[in-house]
Amino acid sequence: MRIQQIELDSNLFLSPLAGYTNLPMRMTLRELGGLGWATTDLVNARSLIERNPTALKLVESCAGDRPLSIQLFGSRPDEMRDAAVICEEMGAQAVDINMGCPVKKVTKIGGGSAMMTELSKTADLVRRMVGAVGIPVTAKMRLGWDSENITAPDLARVLEEAGVAAVFVHGRTRAQGFSGAVSLAGIRAVVEAVRSIPVIGNGDVTTPEAARRMLAETGCAGVSIGRGAFYDPWIFRRTEHFLRTGELLPEPGFAERIRVLRRHFERYCDFYGDARGPRLFRKVAPWYAKRFGPAKPFKQRILTIESKADFEAVVSEYLSWRSAFCDASGELLPKYRPAPMSPAFSRGGAEGGPSDRDSIPVPRGPVETW
Ligand SMILES: Cc1cc2nc3c(=O)[nH]c(=O)nc-3n(C[C@H](O)[C@H](O)[C@H](O)COP(=O)(O)O)c2cc1C
Repeated sequence: MRIQQIELDSNLFLSPLAGYTNLPMRMTLRELGGLGWATTDLVNARSLIERNPTALKLVESCAGDRPLSIQLFGSRPDEMRDAAVICEEMGAQAVDINMGCPVKKVTKIGGGSAMMTELSKTADLVRRMVGAVGIPVTAKMRLGWDSENITAPDLARVLEEAGVAAVFVHGRTRAQGFSGAVSLAGIRAVVEAVRSIPVIGNGDVTTPEAARRMLAETGCAGVSIGRGAFYDPWIFRRTEHFLRTGELLPEPGFAERIRVLRRHFERYCDFYGDARGPRLFRKVAPWYAKRFGPAKPFKQRILTIESKADFEAVVSEYLSWRSAFCDASGELLPKYRPAPMSPAFSRGGAEGGPSDRDSIPVPRGPVETW
């Protein structure tokens, strides 16, 4: 698929996940294959203009980190325009506008999902951004503010007129937060509302089959995956292969999971330094552990690491502890194997059920309200 002038290798996208989708995570996922496009965490437009070090760290990239879109939030058209120009100068392939974030600090300044409630103001902001840069400007939205106000189809139509190159739709309302089912019908309504720009569906895709179902039932051009990539960094490769060939590759084995965990950790240390990297990795490692089988001591001890040596000690102690649950060839005995991932909204009827989202929890902390 294409987004304006950019031809993508696959129609699979990494959703922005604040606090996670930094350069180390993006490069770890890209190396595993199948990922067509990645977006940074959301970045405050004004902070970028002010060259705030935290904002600059969020947009840090490298030659292999392509195509990359920088996601901006803000509501002042002049700031959003100037920040978009900075993104282009920094070498980003696209700029994405956050119109879906329900967090108060973002909506109270008129950004994030508040933008979905004021169509003409939002269109004006987008026009200014589009007019100022040569790279595609895209928008990421939810279905609407709440179930009484499903504005995404109208918003998408207005944004297309204003010049956005693609829209990303998380199939929930702001009021839903992360609970309740993703509405494939809601995503479909957005696909039907636009004339020709690609619509990328998003929400609760944790398996290749779920991606196929979202594509088939909504007619969307691509699928964006967020939390599914926490569990399964190989999801893009497996999904790309499945969509192309119909063959479902097995989930990777434990040795491969440990290899990639180590690689991700090394990148954290390179990126954040040997002092901060291990501490910041404390919140990443438990996601890998969710598919390890028995992992209680690992999950506890990894939260205490301060250094590279601590990390290696925790991993090697865990490897010997875990062998008690394995057969002679090192495979987990059947009763300890984690259940296979099953397509989230594909369970229990066309629109899934509330229990579906439990399979991809939101990380603990302020982001729970995302
Ligand atoms: C921890 C966390 C951080 C998020 N950060 C962002 C963000 O910075 N920008 C954004 O547009 N959406 C953000 N989201 C929403 C995701 O991009 C995505 O729309 C949502 O998680 C649904 O997709 P998923 O079920 O594949 O995760 C975040 C979600 C989570 C769980």
